[in-house]
Amino acid sequence: MNSTAANLNFPVFDHGGELEQAANWAQCDPRDLLDFSNLLNPQGPPPPLANFLKTLTPQIVAHPRAFKLEQALSRHYKFPAEQILVGPGSTAFIRFLPQILQPQKVLILGPTYSDYARALQTLNISFEFLLGIEQEHWAIPYFEFEQKLNAGIQLVWITRPNNPLGHCYPKTIIDTWIQQYPQIYFLIDETCFDLADTSCESMLQYPLPPNLIILRSFSKGYCVPGLRLGWLVVPDWLAGTLKQSQEPWPISTLAIELGRFLLEHCAWIKDSQSLNHALQLDFEKKCAQLSGFKIAPSVLPAFTFQGLAPSFSAQKLQAWLLKEKKMFIRVLSFHPGLGDRYFRIGLQSNAQNDLLVHALQTAELYD
Ligand SMILES: Cc1ncc(COP(=O)(O)O)c(C=O)c1O
Repeated sequence: MNSTAANLNFPVFDHGGELEQAANWAQCDPRDLLDFSNLLNPQGPPPPLANFLKTLTPQIVAHPRAFKLEQALSRHYKFPAEQILVGPGSTAFIRFLPQILQPQKVLILGPTYSDYARALQTLNISFEFLLGIEQEHWAIPYFEFEQKLNAGIQLVWITRPNNPLGHCYPKTIIDTWIQQYPQIYFLIDETCFDLADTSCESMLQYPLPPNLIILRSFSKGYCVPGLRLGWLVVPDWLAGTLKQSQEPWPISTLAIELGRFLLEHCAWIKDSQSLNHALQLDFEKKCAQLSGFKIAPSVLPAFTFQGLAPSFSAQKLQAWLLKEKKMFIRVLSFHPGLGDRYFRIGLQSNAQNDLLVHALQTAELYD
């Protein structure tokens, strides 16, 4: 928790899902909190996962063979295993990749996920944001984008679908940029792709252009963030260097076996997509009646809210919801391009979403 915020008596969390800290602040048991702070599949993990997990104890004594999961991903996505790397969540690659590529200057298309800036800061790599325009559905100012790409940017970092905003830059536009700027790496974070509705098309296609790198994860769509399992797809010329630079056992035997199992249960992604779509429509309809907020259209089962009251503060709302309603939301107060008028909620069940809408109706939005 951030000490300045603690002094102001507001809780501050680095990520969503920090239930223990939230419960500590709300003085309750973590199990009593309704967690809207995470962006995960509201349908939970595939139901057969729990039983399969019980069968894995003997595997713990074996050394992990990551190539088994890389091959399973290769078969599933019809992409060469040589160009796939697995690791402990896409978080690991958010740090590993810039560390190996050492770009002189990175451009992050924002507002977006906060961990990129944190990783680049830690690695001492220079970066800047180019922020989308809210009134234009967060489209980026194209003239400025071109100017920046012609002025020494070596890597462009794009989140699609975007977390927290829930929009998805069209594939065709990014394809054009990739072709137009062959000297620049395009790192596309598709960590949330499995959660998106069918309007969002993946950039993952064989053959991969030599300047395109894609990040994927099991965390979101399969609702297993605790498994720490992500993967990276890279152009063939880069694959060898990256594989050699990776640590010997990047993921555990359990993660390998569970990853293979989840790929066999990929129908869960499709099944939950349509259930989540219904949740989204229902939630949007209910939110239309909330006068104090505007919500951004989203391809994800999560929405970013903007508080409209002049003195609205997402941090104050978070504190009030935690204390009074035992509900946990994700504030976006420190996201460049957003600020303390914005917060994000990840959908839960219909009944739980209704409780949140009701709480927002009665929330104390003014001083
Ligand atoms: C856009 C984005 N990238 C990466 C991550 C990290 O995911 P993982 O659990 O695979 O490390 C997240 C998690 O919220 C995310 O939203």
